[in-house]
Amino acid sequence: MSNLATLQQQMLVERQNSRRFRKLTTTTPVNGMQILRDGQTLVNFSSNDYLGISQHPLLKERATEWLEKYGTGCGASRLISGNFDIFDRVEEKLAKLKGTETALVMGAGFQTNVSLLPAVANDKSFICCDRLSHNSLLQGAILSQSSWTRFHHNDVLDLKKRLESSASANAENRWIVSESVFSMDGDVADIDQLISTANHHDAQLLIDDAHATGVLGVNGMGLTSFKPEIDLIVGTFGKALGSYGSYVACSKQMRDYLINFCGGLIYSTALPPPILGAIDAALDLVPTLDAERKRLSELATFARNELQSMGFSTLNSSTQIIPIVTGSEESALQLSQHLEERGILALPIRPPTVSNSTSRIRLSISAAHTDEQMESLVSALKDWGQVKR
Ligand SMILES: Cc1ncc(COP(=O)(O)O)c(C=O)c1O
Repeated sequence: MSNLATLQQQMLVERQNSRRFRKLTTTTPVNGMQILRDGQTLVNFSSNDYLGISQHPLLKERATEWLEKYGTGCGASRLISGNFDIFDRVEEKLAKLKGTETALVMGAGFQTNVSLLPAVANDKSFICCDRLSHNSLLQGAILSQSSWTRFHHNDVLDLKKRLESSASANAENRWIVSESVFSMDGDVADIDQLISTANHHDAQLLIDDAHATGVLGVNGMGLTSFKPEIDLIVGTFGKALGSYGSYVACSKQMRDYLINFCGGLIYSTALPPPILGAIDAALDLVPTLDAERKRLSELATFARNELQSMGFSTLNSSTQIIPIVTGSEESALQLSQHLEERGILALPIRPPTVSNSTSRIRLSISAAHTDEQMESLVSALKDWGQVKR
């Protein structure tokens, strides 16, 4: 066995011994929020389809229409010959909804985040990321070769301190990086405060609006909408918008710059036409879904209140993402198993995705969950209280 294979084997065994070995489990959508997994029908509380529109007839219809008209793929990157006319349509619609000069559609959100910071920052830059920023943003910071630091979660005072450090003073430019709704804690950044901090410290601002897009803000299009002071806004289409891919909303000059300097756009095949069709339809649909957003917020509040009255910690969640913090990895695994036995899929999240001693179940509520499904979740959690007592 080669050295590499031996090392890999050791690492996999370590993962298994620590019960952190990850494997793919096949799922099949059944109906609404129900999925089939390992032969069992479960109610899915681990999906980011927050509005339940991934099965919406309008998205399917336009995906099919654009599939028929344009084919299954664009055949090249957008800078070569893959920039089909449908990109203009989607990007104009998106910019209007976000209240920005322009928008740029890209591949997966991971790809966008990994390639944005390397495009706009370099070894003379200083990057301050919120400690809970998504892995893709951290990877982007590392790849940019900037000096970078993580400020305490949602702590603007700590951010300011770091922006006043000598590393920051010696940099040619500074970036502040944060999510709007945090993917694992479900709490919200104070975007206006980040904007004023960026202004005051002559820093640029990048906000990842992935979990707010479709759910919060003007037009339901996120907490960054109509805030032109933000230099780079990223959002995804794979969560509340029901399909796949991501966008950057920004000024026209920034868009031109990215088209010239962002590897994730330049060196990657354009998104396939059926996906663009689903995105286009979602952009028509999302601003009309206020009733669904209201329901989503009410269901999340209901779940949070129930959890808190049972004594669970839900951290500072105020959105559709609700952590049930168990602390130990073992108890997160046990609680997930307990829920699964009662027909509920709610997966545990453990280190290294979250920090030590904050293992949790990450509940993802959708407007498509029925009242009965919410009741069964609450009753299964109450049972768990009995089991533990
Ligand atoms: C905050 C955040 N940004 C980016 C991504 C990546 O987006 P995508 O799934 O489109 O690659 C995720 C996905 O989990 C996320 O939570």
